[in-house]
Amino acid sequence: MAKQFPEGFLWGGATAANQFEGGFHKGNKGLNIADVLPGGKERLEILGNPGFDFEIDPNKYYPNHDAIDFYNRYKEDIALFAEMGFKVFRTSIAWTRIFPNGDELEPNEEGLAFYDRVFDELIKHGIEPVVTISHYEMPVHLVKEYGGWRNREVITFFERYAEAIFNRYKGKVKYWMTFNEINSGLMMPIMGLGFAIQKEADKYQPTFQAFHHQFVASAKAVKLCREIMPEAQIGCMIIYAPVYAFDSKPENVMHALEEEELFNYFCADVQVRGEYPAFINRYFKEHNIELEMEDGDLDILKEGTVDYIGFSYYMSRTEKKDKSNEEGIQGNIMQGVKNPFLQASDWGWEIDPVGLRISLNKLYGRYEVPLFIVENGLGAYDKVEEDGSIQDDYRIDYLREHMKQMGEAIEDGVELMGYTSWGCIDLVSASTGEMSKRYGFIYVDKHDDGTGTLERKRKKSFYWYKDVIDSNGENL
Ligand code: BG6
Repeated sequence: MAKQFPEGFLWGGATAANQFEGGFHKGNKGLNIADVLPGGKERLEILGNPGFDFEIDPNKYYPNHDAIDFYNRYKEDIALFAEMGFKVFRTSIAWTRIFPNGDELEPNEEGLAFYDRVFDELIKHGIEPVVTISHYEMPVHLVKEYGGWRNREVITFFERYAEAIFNRYKGKVKYWMTFNEINSGLMMPIMGLGFAIQKEADKYQPTFQAFHHQFVASAKAVKLCREIMPEAQIGCMIIYAPVYAFDSKPENVMHALEEEELFNYFCADVQVRGEYPAFINRYFKEHNIELEMEDGDLDILKEGTVDYIGFSYYMSRTEKKDKSNEEGIQGNIMQGVKNPFLQASDWGWEIDPVGLRISLNKLYGRYEVPLFIVENGLGAYDKVEEDGSIQDDYRIDYLREHMKQMGEAIEDGVELMGYTSWGCIDLVSASTGEMSKRYGFIYVDKHDDGTGTLERKRKKSFYWYKDVIDSNGENL
């Protein structure tokens, strides 16, 4: 028997502008980080941190440029979301549609007007927009001219951007989040923090200085949001992957705890509690990190705490102090060792529905603020059958098992606002640039080499999710 989901539970789907809009130069849009990331194996190598020049090579294919053309097809796509009964739809605003270079004084009207059209269309269908202000979409100009988030000046540019979109969309958008998966800067600084790191030894000081600037920027945006839209709710957004100790050896348990604190809690502690956690002081000392702060920064952090925690959940992570004799996990951007109790997706992401219940309990236990699962899903190869159907039972199974655990967590006392499944319509993978790593309820005829008609088709999971939403989670 399915557990009861609260009335008004926010069921929906999630995307990010750069992964599905296309129209990368339409309406005066400037280049962002995702626009300069090529597809294929090379992308993962770049994200693994080598020096990268953020330039476009005319001989390479850039999958985010045209993506799935939501830019022109938003009406058709939103109608499909409405058909599934979405209560909310999460997307990001592409920073470079609004401020093409990032450091202009005035916003770009064509970009603002585009999101007016999108939000109006959603609202027309009774769907509330949930907006991420920055989802791996920093303007390339800010990367090249200012060094990304290492530079304090970027806070001013972000504040100006946040103010412009709050003023424009107040009354239309009630749910906001500042930085997508802010803690991903620890493993992929290129996408999250806007700079490449040449050597491991050089990473600590700039990474944490950049985090400090993002924290201040996020807190300032929270304050602005409250002033401009007192009725809105604004959250942080983190990747959450519970860290398990490989076994009960105390050294391994301690190691797992340290990894968990740094990866899962460091950013959320600052954004939810408004102060740096005690455990980070030792880490800073051991890595010679000395943050440069301005007077008032700590007050800003304190005043700009978030209303809720948005998080992505795809997998758990298993850690061991000495990994030398263990099998690593393949194809996955997370570190760790293989968990013998879990199966993995075709991309090596270990599938762990119970880990979602654990995550919900741990997060709620630590912070006691509402939680919002804003990403979860299975990246899988889909096959279009001769009759045109897509029988994605594997995706239904994955989602069903995770939703059952959400029900358990609600029963455990966790305050869960909603659930937006990642990539509700097939889109470009962030880590690999592939189209073939599909997450959607809606299939898009677009392929890794850029070919395809862009036709949309309802998968079997489309009808299943519609029934889940219709029954508010009763029919899983
Ligand atoms: C999250 C990101 O990490 O995972 C998304 O916020 C991303 O942007 C999603 O698409 C799934 O990852 P991938 O690499 O399979 O696209």
